[in-house]
Amino acid sequence: MGKQLRVGIIGTGSISHMHITSYEKNENAEIIALCDIDEKRLKTAADKYGIEKTYADYRRMFAECALDAVSVCTWNSQHAPCAIAALEAGLHVLCEKPMAINRAEAETMREAAERSGKLLMIGFVRRFGNDCRVLKDFINNGDLGEIYYAKTTYIRRFGCPGGWYGDKARSGGGPLIDLGVHVIDLTRYLMGNPKPVSVYAAAFDKLLANKSVKDAKGYRSATKSNNNPADVEDMVSALVRYDNGAVLNIVTSFALNVKEDEGLIELMGTKGGAKLNPNLEIFTEKNGYMVNIGFNTPTALSFNGLFENEVNHFVDCALNGSPCLAPAGDGVVVMRIIDAIYESAQTKREVVINNN
Ligand SMILES: NC(=O)c1ccc[n+]([C@@H]2O[C@H](COP(=O)([O-])OP(=O)(O)OC[C@H]3O[C@@H](n4cnc5c(N)ncnc54)[C@H](O)[C@@H]3O)[C@@H](O)[C@H]2O)c1
Repeated sequence: MGKQLRVGIIGTGSISHMHITSYEKNENAEIIALCDIDEKRLKTAADKYGIEKTYADYRRMFAECALDAVSVCTWNSQHAPCAIAALEAGLHVLCEKPMAINRAEAETMREAAERSGKLLMIGFVRRFGNDCRVLKDFINNGDLGEIYYAKTTYIRRFGCPGGWYGDKARSGGGPLIDLGVHVIDLTRYLMGNPKPVSVYAAAFDKLLANKSVKDAKGYRSATKSNNNPADVEDMVSALVRYDNGAVLNIVTSFALNVKEDEGLIELMGTKGGAKLNPNLEIFTEKNGYMVNIGFNTPTALSFNGLFENEVNHFVDCALNGSPCLAPAGDGVVVMRIIDAIYESAQTKREVVINNN
C-alpha cells in the first residue's frame, strides 16, 4: 500500500473518463478526488465512479486531499494555470495535449516543473500505441536509415467538436492545436526528436464560420456555453524544417471539402519508408526488388489500451522515477512549432524558430 499514488482529476469532461478508468485499472494508483467548475458534470462523474470527494476549486482539492498527482483534463486554456498550481503544491502532473495554448505558457509550465522537481508529463497518447512501438523498433534498428521526409494528415471533412473547441480564447486554435498536435508530435518522436528550425504555413477559415456546429454530427462532446463562436481556423497546411535537414509536411482540418476523413503518418528514409494508415507497412528494397512488409502482430491504431498505457507509464514514472517517455520539454517544442505555424500563416512568411 506504501506505493499507492493518490490521484486527483481536474476536469471531468469526455477525456477524463479515459483517465479515470485507466487509473482504476492500475493497482498502484487510487483516485481520491474529482474537480470541475461544472457542478452537473462533476456529480455525474462522481456518481458513476463512486468517488466521494468533489471540488469546484482545484486549490481546495490540493489543500484537503493529500494528493501525489493530478491529471489535467480541462479545456486547453486552463492547462497552464492548473498544472502550475499543482506543481507548486508538490504534485506530479499528467497534462492533456496540447500542453498549453501557446509557447510562452508551455515554457512557464516547464519552468514550474523544474522548480518543483515534480514530473510534468504531456498526454501525447499516440506515443503509447502498439503501432508506434513496433515502428520505433524498426527505426531504432536502422531499417529506415536516415529519415529525411515525413508526411502527415489529420483531416476531418466536417468535424469541429463544437463548444470550447471552436472558441479560440479557450482552445488556442482549431485543428492544428487539437488534431495536428498529435501527429506533429508523433512524427517528430519517430524521427528521433529533431529540433525545429523554421516553418512555412497557410491557414484558412473559409467553411467553419459559415456552418452551424450543430451540423457536426458525431463530434458534439465538448462543454457548451451560451457563447459558442467558431473563431478558429478550418484548415492548416505547413512545412516544418528540422535541424538535421529533415522536413515534415502536415495538413489538418476541422472542415475541408474532401471525399473522406484521413489520418496518415508517412516517414521516408534512405533505407526504407513506413506508413501508418492505420496499419503499419514498411517499404524497402531487398535483393534488388522493391519490397513491402506487412505485420502479423497487431499494428493498427486502436484507441483501446492507449490511455491505459499512458496512465500506467505516468504512475510508474511518478512512483519509481522511471524516465518519462513524453516529457514537458517535448511539449514545449511542439508548442514552438504550433506558434510558428500560426505566425507564418498570419504573416505569409517563413518563420524561424528560436529554440532558446
Ligand atoms: N488525448 C486525446 O486523444 C484527447 C482527446 C480529446 C480531448 N483531449 C484533450 O482533453 C482536454 C479536455 O477535452 P474534453 O473533450 O474532455 O473537454 P470537455 O469540455 O468534455 O471537458 C473539459 C472539462 O473541464 C472543465 N474545466 C474547465 N476549466 C476548469 C477548471 N479551471 N477547473 C476545473 N474544471 C475545469 C469543464 O467544466 C469541462 O467539464 C482538452 O485539452 C483536449 O484537447 C485529448
